[in-house]
Amino acid sequence: MTLRRDDSLAAYLYSYRDKDGGRQDLLWAFRLVAGGVGCRRVLYPGSYVHITPSLVFPEVCYVDSVKGVGAALAAPALAEYVDGHKDYCGDAVIRCWEGDYRGFGGEPAGSFDLLISLNAGFISQHCGHFLKPGGFLLVNNEHYDAARAWVDSRYQLVAALEDGALNPADALSGNSTWFRTAKGEVLTLAMVESDAERPPSKARFRLAREAEAYLFRLDSGVRGDDGDGLMAGA
Ligand SMILES: C[S@@+](CC[C@H](N)C(=O)[O-])C[C@H]1O[C@@H](n2cnc3c(N)ncnc32)[C@H](O)[C@@H]1O
Repeated sequence: MTLRRDDSLAAYLYSYRDKDGGRQDLLWAFRLVAGGVGCRRVLYPGSYVHITPSLVFPEVCYVDSVKGVGAALAAPALAEYVDGHKDYCGDAVIRCWEGDYRGFGGEPAGSFDLLISLNAGFISQHCGHFLKPGGFLLVNNEHYDAARAWVDSRYQLVAALEDGALNPADALSGNSTWFRTAKGEVLTLAMVESDAERPPSKARFRLAREAEAYLFRLDSGVRGDDGDGLMAGA
């Protein structure tokens, strides 16, 4: 697949703003994260032309391997769209890298406040080192990356984003029901890995409860940190 620079605004509007009433877009979720935890520098590997984070966060770095995506994301028409629809004052800083996020080295490690992982593989594992200690991971579970973060002790679940709300993990009724199967089994790394290559409809271990996205916090490395990152700012 090759993306044409001139088509990028149309591709974006079709895939994210118009299709399915904007279901894939998650603008509401980005806004809730920005309001809840701030975040200045944001990294979005596997972004395709999903430029919506730039409507909310002033500095976003996009990485994708689709041919032509670097030029497509940098197209003047997309920049104009962002400029006309963004929530913040000041210029949007948008950086685009075309390539495989697994070998990505274009930005300094430990320099991002927020890592976005939506429908594009185990980004929590391949790109987690780009987060600052105490930084946040916004992730969905279509490619099991939320489950992968859940079984990784470096990440702590801080909130579930569902039905247009950000529900802090400690306020979720029955927090212990998250990342359990319908039979009540707690998800393990082996279970996540055994489903990794299967489409969600063929998953062996279906979760009893799913949110549209989850917010995790990377271990801050500070002793005594309880991992409650909401409102920590960035
Ligand atoms: C299903 S699309 C999801 C796009 C967007 N994140 C969304 O949620 O709509 C998956 C995207 O991830 C990209 N991708 C998958 N694996 C990648 C990798 N290893 N490196 C860079 N991009 C990758 C693909 O090129 C594709 O554009």
